[in-house]
Amino acid sequence: MSILKINNVRKSYGNNQVLKGINLNFEKPGIKALIGPNGSGKTTLFSIIVNLLKKDSGEILIQGMDHKDPKIFKKVSFLKDSSVLYGYLTGLDHLEFIAYAQGLPSSRIDEVCQKTGITNYVKKKVSTYSLGMKQHLLLAMVIMNKPKLMILDEPLNGLDPTAIIKTRGLLQELAEEGTAILLSSHTLTEVDYITSDILFLSKGKIINEDISVYKAIDYEFLLDKKSLGKAKTILSKEKNVTLKKDKLIYRTETTDIQNFIAYLTSNGIEFKEINKRKIGAEERYRAIFAEELSTERTGEGDIV
Ligand SMILES: Nc1ncnc2c1ncn2[C@@H]1O[C@H](COP(=O)(O)OP(=O)(O)OP(=O)(O)O)[C@@H](O)[C@H]1O
Ligand SMILES: [Mg+2]
Repeated sequence: MSILKINNVRKSYGNNQVLKGINLNFEKPGIKALIGPNGSGKTTLFSIIVNLLKKDSGEILIQGMDHKDPKIFKKVSFLKDSSVLYGYLTGLDHLEFIAYAQGLPSSRIDEVCQKTGITNYVKKKVSTYSLGMKQHLLLAMVIMNKPKLMILDEPLNGLDPTAIIKTRGLLQELAEEGTAILLSSHTLTEVDYITSDILFLSKGKIINEDISVYKAIDYEFLLDKKSLGKAKTILSKEKNVTLKKDKLIYRTETTDIQNFIAYLTSNGIEFKEINKRKIGAEERYRAIFAEELSTERTGEGDIV
């Protein structure tokens, strides 16, 4: 049974249709990243999943249960931004409240403080925390109930490199222990480090995962000068081949490239090395949002 199943979810704010039929199937524990430009509807979708916002239509099931079922509360957690924190309370106050509301033993508080590295300042008022410290507290709060599904809206925002590395490790550990993590991020290089399972939100829909840029693999052949000259004459019109300095890049969806290698050698093109490279988040983003990238932005979400 899927951990999270979303069927045809729609949401408008007045005339602004933000989600135009979202489908998503999160079957097994792991990490999925949701990427989309500002204003594309990531926070709207997340808020709907955790029932903080009403959808207009569609269905959302969490482990087979409707997402509005009160029992879901024990299985799911949601990290939004630090606006949910109370400055006049301590980090510990926040964690104690969650332990109380969820009926968790207080020993769980010590565990999460250690896991997230907040023990040293958890007794201080949140108003004295830096952005990164608040982000750590939020992370501690969302792991308190050992959720089956974690929804994290920009969890890496404001973290320094050390904190990013540690948080990434923590998320990967949680995923290995059986948690499904759906997160959003604007830092594409960071997303590449966390997961290759990336969903793009564009114009109110999640882009079909079947499109070729998701499956593509680049094989980079390192050529000498003579072979590069030959490759330019023979392969310049091949649409799957790009020639860059001393490299020939062959993009394909298969791992079987024996035929291509045979084709190169039969044409006298020799190579010193082959490197295999999966297409990264930025390249996929460039392919999917090519139209937006070539137009001028006037403000949040506005494309002209
Ligand atoms: N409460 C609201 N009332 C009216 N419109 C809203 C409301 N919340 C969001 N919107 C609109 O819905 C759209 C999607 O916003 P949302 O915050 O979900 O985007 P996002 O992908 O999370 O953006 P960002 O990357 O900037 O966080 C935007 O056009 C926004 O103006
Ligand atoms: Mg948002």
